Amino acid sequence: MCIRDRGETVNILVLGGGGREHAIAWALSQSPRCDQLYVAPGNGGTASIAQNVKNLAAEEGDAVLSFAKDHEIGLVVVGPEAPLVAGVADVVRAAGIPIFGPDAQGAQLEGSKTYSKEFMDANGIPTARYASFTDEAQARAYCEELGAPLVVKADGLAAGKGVIVAETLEVALDAVKECFQGAFGEAGNRVVIEEMLKGPECSLLAFVSKGKAFCMAPAQDHKRAYDGDLGPNTGGMGVYSPVPIVTDEEMAAMVSVMETAAAATAKDPFEQDYRGCLYGGFMLTQEGPKVLEFNARFGDPETQVVLPRLQGDLVDIMLAVAEGRPEDIELSWSNKWAVSVVLASGGYPGSYEKGKVILGVSEAEQLDDVIVFHAGTALNNDGELITAGGRVLNVVALGDTFEEARNRAYEACNLIKFENMQFRSDIGKRALLGRSAWDA
Ligand code: AMP
Ligand code: GLY
Repeated sequence: MCIRDRGETVNILVLGGGGREHAIAWALSQSPRCDQLYVAPGNGGTASIAQNVKNLAAEEGDAVLSFAKDHEIGLVVVGPEAPLVAGVADVVRAAGIPIFGPDAQGAQLEGSKTYSKEFMDANGIPTARYASFTDEAQARAYCEELGAPLVVKADGLAAGKGVIVAETLEVALDAVKECFQGAFGEAGNRVVIEEMLKGPECSLLAFVSKGKAFCMAPAQDHKRAYDGDLGPNTGGMGVYSPVPIVTDEEMAAMVSVMETAAAATAKDPFEQDYRGCLYGGFMLTQEGPKVLEFNARFGDPETQVVLPRLQGDLVDIMLAVAEGRPEDIELSWSNKWAVSVVLASGGYPGSYEKGKVILGVSEAEQLDDVIVFHAGTALNNDGELITAGGRVLNVVALGDTFEEARNRAYEACNLIKFENMQFRSDIGKRALLGRSAWDA
C-alpha cells in the first residue's frame, strides 16, 4: 500500500463527465495537494479547471491503469457506477495505485438490487418488504398477492430507468412483462418487487473505508420534470442540503444505518473492499427512515450541494479513504445552506436538441456564493459553450438561510440563457412550507 506524507502533491484522474464529476474536480482543484488534474471524459466546465481526456475507456480496468501509470496518477476517483461494477477499482488498487471507489463486490450494493436487499435483511437495515424473481409467472403471482400500489425494479444497472412505481396492479404486471421481455436488457433478467413506501425522500452520503462510515450532510433531490412534482421522472431537477424537514431522530437513524452498512461491508459474508462513497437513499416513513436503495458512488446532483459545504481538504479525505486510513478522516461543514437548480434542455427527459449556445454563465458566477457546475456542456470549434445533454447546468448558491440560498440560486438562473432552456421554479418550495407539505 502506498501511504504518502501529508502535504505531498498528487496527480489525480477523475472518471466521468457530468455535474457530479465537475463538482468533485472543482473541490479537488481547491486543494494545495492537487497537482495535474485529469477528467475523463469531462465536459465544458471541467475543461477550465482540468485537462479533459476524451478517449479513455473508463469501464476497462486495464485502460484506466495504463493511463494512470503513464501520467503518474496518485489518486483515481470514480464518479459513475458502471466502472465500479465492472471492477475497475479492483484492477487499479491491485497495482498499488490509490483509487476512490469500492471493489466490484462492494459495487454490487448498487449493481444488484437483490444483493442489496439481502445485505439489508442480513444486517437488520429497515427497507421495503420485497421478493426477487427470475420467473415471470412467480413474479406476477407475487404482485397479485401484495396488491397495488407496488414497485417493480429491474435487478441490475438500468441508468436510473429500471424502477416502476405502480399505482395499479395492471401497471405493475405490465412492468414485470417488460422487464422479462428485455426492456432493460440483462438488468431485467431478475426482477425485485416491493411494497410502496410513502414520505419525503432524503439522501445521505458517507465516506466509507475499512468498515467505518463518515456521514456527509443530508440532501434532497427533485426527480420529477415539472413544477409541483408533476411530469416524468428525471435524473434530478434540483437539490438542496441540508434538509430542513429532517428531524434529529431521523438523522440519527439514518447515520446509524450508514454505520451499520459500512461495518457490514468489512465482515463475512459480504466481505467487500469498500473504499469510496456509499449513498443511502431513504424514505422518511411514519415508522422511521427506510432504505430505498444503496448506490456505490456519489449522488448526482446531491454532490453539487454537498461538496461546496465541505470545509476539509478533499484530496486528504479521498486519499485516506482510498488508502484505508479511516483514522485520518475528519469532516467539517460550513453552516451555510446550499440550493441547486438544474437548467435543462427543452424536451428533457424526452428528446431534445443539442448544440445551443449558452450565455451568461460568467455573469452568474460573479454573484457572491454562486457556483455553476456543468452537466451536459461542450465547447464548439469557436470555443463557445454549447449544450450537449439533457441536464445542462447545475446552478448552486450558498446562503446563511435556506431562503437566501434559494433566492440567490434563482437570481443566478435568471442571468443564464440558451434556446429552449427549461427549469423548475419550485425547487425547495415544499421544504420551506415544512413537513406538513408532504402529509397532504
Ligand atoms: P431506486 O433507484 O431504487 O432509488 O428508485 C428510484 C426512485 O423510485 C426512488 O428515488 C423513489 O422515488 C422511487 N422508489 C423506489 N423504491 C420505492 C418504494 N419502495 N416505494 C416508493 N417509491 C420508491
Ligand atoms: N440522485 C440520485 C442518484 O444519484 O442516484
